Amino acid sequence: MKPVKVGVLGLGTVGGGTVNVLKRNAAEIARRAGREIIITRASAKDLNKQRICDTQGIALTTDPFEIINDPEIEIVLELIGGAGPVKDMALKAIENGKHVVTANKSLIALHGNEIFAKASEKGVIVAFEAAVAGGIPIIKAIREGLSGNQIEWLAGIINGTGNFILTEMRDKGRDFSDVLAEAQALGYAEADPTFDVEGIDAGHKLTILASIAFGIPLQFDKVFTEGITKITRTDVEYAEQLGYRIKHLGIARKTSEGIELRVHPTLIPERRLIANVNGVMNAVLVKGDAVGPTLYYGAGAGAEPTASSVVADVIDVVRALTSDPENRVPHLAFQADALADIPVLPADMFRTAYYLRLHAEDKPGVLAEVTRILAEHQISIEAISQKVPQDNETSVPIIILTQVTLEKEMNAAIAEIEALQTVTGKVNRIRLETLG
Ligand code: HSE
Repeated sequence: MKPVKVGVLGLGTVGGGTVNVLKRNAAEIARRAGREIIITRASAKDLNKQRICDTQGIALTTDPFEIINDPEIEIVLELIGGAGPVKDMALKAIENGKHVVTANKSLIALHGNEIFAKASEKGVIVAFEAAVAGGIPIIKAIREGLSGNQIEWLAGIINGTGNFILTEMRDKGRDFSDVLAEAQALGYAEADPTFDVEGIDAGHKLTILASIAFGIPLQFDKVFTEGITKITRTDVEYAEQLGYRIKHLGIARKTSEGIELRVHPTLIPERRLIANVNGVMNAVLVKGDAVGPTLYYGAGAGAEPTASSVVADVIDVVRALTSDPENRVPHLAFQADALADIPVLPADMFRTAYYLRLHAEDKPGVLAEVTRILAEHQISIEAISQKVPQDNETSVPIIILTQVTLEKEMNAAIAEIEALQTVTGKVNRIRLETLG
């Protein structure tokens, strides 16, 4: 059979890694796909730039549309990333009847509904395994491996840069900005690193995971995001003293009232496997009603781990080239006409436990006032501990762990606690999940 011709848009970290993997493993890949897969064309902004891949045998151009409009190309790999003209590129490739493989999480999270509708109309596949958790085949696991389950919830460390920063801060006491600069140099961080540290990137990935887990349309605008910039070493230490680790988690949970979609720093028991996922590694915990909890772990970023997912998608597309479009695995796991209109809950409706750090005067009755406020909001205390004041502190730090409560009640309680004469400054609140 004739080889399948592939065009690559973007030769940066992911594009370069993909070229290397497709070339190095060509024979093995052909044995799996049933056909040879060759990259005949690639585009890059600057053709003179030094690259991580050998582009010998690949016709290069600075114009991605030359590839998109090339009738010989059957599969377009969109590996430019980010926003901007990539949406037009993907839509044009689909319009031209080409299958598209992308690693672009924002493209799918923000425009996936439109892109998949167009792809279904044209009978082509848009594959996006590399968009979530780099090299971990989490899309395939949820969409195919767990398709007999009702997914109850999932929780993931889905931003390698953020996890790398939290790990280095905890293990080595390094500064936030210093670790971020290293993550950027290693090619893990987004072009705009606030996407990593403020939870936007994780929000994009969570949007995708939630859609394939619950069969709902992609709704990034409804994801609650809180970053890691306010996490201090003190909180990391206090959490550890109580047997917890702080991780930046993306959580999607189906409740009787709707779906919670949230990204925020989270205390998790240190005995959980996912609490021990460190550095740039990612992990996703998925709870299905039949299978129970399952955990997927691996490199969440980097050239070849991400290429591993891109190439797997290319092989899947090649295997499906001759199949009827209606018999293929649906883009969002559920048939397009069977997506459900389940409400995504506002943050006020979240149910979770909390770690609270507040600073109060060290005198009789102060704690009683704080606990009275919590009780009035039906918030049950799990543990409470008074710490030794740090240098120059005139107030004492008090740490409270609560049981699961409604976020609305916690917001009101925190406002009342902060208004107490005996409490100084803001209450630092970090959500807590047992993931049991
Ligand atoms: N900036 C992302 C991360 C890259 O750090 O996880 C992979 O999506």
